[in-house]
Amino acid sequence: MPAPALSIKDLTKTYATGTQALKGVSLEIPQGDFFALLGPNGAGKTTIIGITTGLVNKTSGSVSVFGHDIDKEPELAKMQIGLVGQEANFNPFEKPLDIVTNQGGYYGIPRSIARPRAEKLLRDLGLGDKMNQNGLTLSGGMKRRLMIARALINQPKFLILDEPTAGVDVELRRGMWDYLTGLSTSGLTILLTTHYLEEAEQLCKHVAIINKGEIVAHGTMEEVIAKHHSGEPAKDGYRGGRLEEVFLKLTFEK
Ligand SMILES: Nc1ncnc2c1ncn2[C@@H]1O[C@H](COP(=O)(O)OP(=O)(O)O)[C@@H](O)[C@H]1O
Ligand SMILES: [Mg+2]
Repeated sequence: MPAPALSIKDLTKTYATGTQALKGVSLEIPQGDFFALLGPNGAGKTTIIGITTGLVNKTSGSVSVFGHDIDKEPELAKMQIGLVGQEANFNPFEKPLDIVTNQGGYYGIPRSIARPRAEKLLRDLGLGDKMNQNGLTLSGGMKRRLMIARALINQPKFLILDEPTAGVDVELRRGMWDYLTGLSTSGLTILLTTHYLEEAEQLCKHVAIINKGEIVAHGTMEEVIAKHHSGEPAKDGYRGGRLEEVFLKLTFEK
């Protein structure tokens, strides 16, 4: 059995403010998976991603990335990961081509290799005509795609995206899901968080639902839906997809 792309055991996080963001989270993401981490705002999704990528210190528990424990082999763990964070975090006065190329420098990729690779990534992501313009001119959806290009410059084995399609209009969102599906098909392991449950239901292989720092469902998309979906016919009014029903049932405020 190859090491899972991500293995998390009994992870807890209490912030300095006293907020208990994670209360003993365990989850596993197999290599090559397209994994959706779902949960309401404040459930702990970004905290899990922060700990996995070395941006946030955990309180207890263990995390390993492709078999590399983040405490014992932090650099090896980090090298496997490309991160598209929840907030845009690039210098808006730089050109997209420079932003992506320079990121290669952090990984020791020579400029002669990073530059053509950055150009190809930006073109593939539909930013071919924007790559030499000031980053200030980019729309929200373009910023997201730029961040995806930047996250892929070191050809990571594991791409983590925190709400990559938030605030992106429907057409671009489809394009982005298509692009991610293509990466997944070519073998990249993907973890994403999203509030677009119908898209996650259609595209993701495994899913975990987190609520108030605890995992309330975890498995293949079909297992989670089969286990928690009532299967009752629609009674009245609006009805979302099956995953949405499961999500609402498991995260309902009592
Ligand atoms: N830096 C921080 N300091 C204190 N509390 C935080 C910090 N970051 C997140 N939290 C709290 O931890 C909980 C989980 O937040 P987060 O992981 O961002 O959730 P999600 O990404 O699922 O919306 C929330 O109650 C949030 O307010
Ligand atoms: Mg978040």
